[in-house]
Amino acid sequence: MHQGLLAKEKKISVIGLGYVGLPLALEFAKKFSVVGFDINEQRVEMMKNGEDPSKELESEAFEDKDILFTANPDDLKQAHFHVVAVPTPIDGHNNPNLRPLLGASKTVGAILKKGDYVIYESTVYPGCTEEDCVPILEEESGLKFNRDFKVGYSPERINPGDKEHTVAKILKIVSGSDDESLEEIANVYGEVITAGIYKANGIKVAEAAKVIENTQRDLNIAFMNELSVIFDKMNIDTKSVLEAAGTKWNFLKFSPGLVGGHCIGVDPYYLLHKSKQLGYTPQIITSGRKINDEMPAHISKRLVQLLIQRGKNPGDSKVLVMGITFKENVADIRNSKVADLVKELMQFSINVHLVDPHASPNEIAHEYRLTLMDKPANDYDAVIVAVAHDEYKVLDMDYFKSLMNGQPIFFDLKGIYENAAANNGLTYWRL
Ligand SMILES: NC(=O)c1ccc[n+]([C@@H]2O[C@H](COP(=O)([O-])OP(=O)(O)OC[C@H]3O[C@@H](n4cnc5c(N)ncnc54)[C@H](O)[C@@H]3O)[C@@H](O)[C@H]2O)c1
Repeated sequence: MHQGLLAKEKKISVIGLGYVGLPLALEFAKKFSVVGFDINEQRVEMMKNGEDPSKELESEAFEDKDILFTANPDDLKQAHFHVVAVPTPIDGHNNPNLRPLLGASKTVGAILKKGDYVIYESTVYPGCTEEDCVPILEEESGLKFNRDFKVGYSPERINPGDKEHTVAKILKIVSGSDDESLEEIANVYGEVITAGIYKANGIKVAEAAKVIENTQRDLNIAFMNELSVIFDKMNIDTKSVLEAAGTKWNFLKFSPGLVGGHCIGVDPYYLLHKSKQLGYTPQIITSGRKINDEMPAHISKRLVQLLIQRGKNPGDSKVLVMGITFKENVADIRNSKVADLVKELMQFSINVHLVDPHASPNEIAHEYRLTLMDKPANDYDAVIVAVAHDEYKVLDMDYFKSLMNGQPIFFDLKGIYENAAANNGLTYWRL
């Protein structure tokens, strides 16, 4: 497989060209002949014109690459090494929504040939590749797993907005359905991943490794969030406590915050789901998820308490929320916990204004039924800076005060205005 791909007698296909699939497809296309497939025709048209719909890559990333962008599944027939990178979200009940993954497996199964490889990159629970995806590949193709075609799993570790840890520069875990496929898959990825390859001891191990990387992060942040709730009651500044404790060599450095996005707040539910299915309800993982999901309600309650303490009726109050994307300096608004915070505030009849220089007003309206304003108005009772966008980091307290009326309340959720709020008449609060 590896040699055939290098000689361009065979092709690689990438199915699902989003945050994960597109950079990977373009990386492969430096060395191999690639078919990039996505069901979203609009996105495919943009990519044909050298534009990344996820706004992560510059147009140069598309130059001099051997890649065909297509929304036509028939084009996948040309390929022999298929990489699946479609979304794995959760549904309204926090259960895995495998529809895109199973749909993509059907698409690949329909064009699968003897000798082909299918490698999954989507984040899943251990067992999903072999128990949920492989049967579809077999059924659609009429071929036999490990005799006629091989399968692998290779999780992605990229981080949206991170221009340093790009796909080729992150050590890549690979796994295969047998020894031969493991070697072949490792060799293919090894051609483009400069950071090196780690051969995992089986597909389930690789699936589990990915899901616990993000679960560990979720839990560490949940612990910080719990501490911030406790210390707030004690009137102690959490950030100062963490700075002091952080002077010990083995204290882990995490900060409290809203956990949104497509990965950290979602992936633990995949592990929870599988574990529950097997008869064990995880205690720590469940608690961590609950704490993190409750942070928007906690923040909103604190703001309402402070408004009332300052003699303001929440129903007559006007609050500005700055930033709604799931993290700083990205356009991604999926699973934004700031949207939850805005809705919590609206439950108290607070008039909430929302701004964000990175988010698309159309996407915000479509996804959350919220209106994004071009720029802030004034006379606010409180301002909440919810996301540490670079555009916000340069603002100062005089600016925020100019937006607010008497007895102003300033919520610095990311703790970016260190000491700036001291002695200037603002009520300053952070997690
Ligand atoms: N975003 C990240 O930083 C990141 C990091 C590591 C792992 N992951 C995982 O990688 C996977 C993909 O995530 P993403 O962020 O790239 O998603 P995304 O939403 O950015 O992109 C997915 C793409 O797949 C397409 N698609 C959906 N269903 C399809 C189908 N049946 N056939 C073909 N194309 C289809 C969509 O149109 C979209 O263009 C997920 O499992 C995610 O958990 C994401």
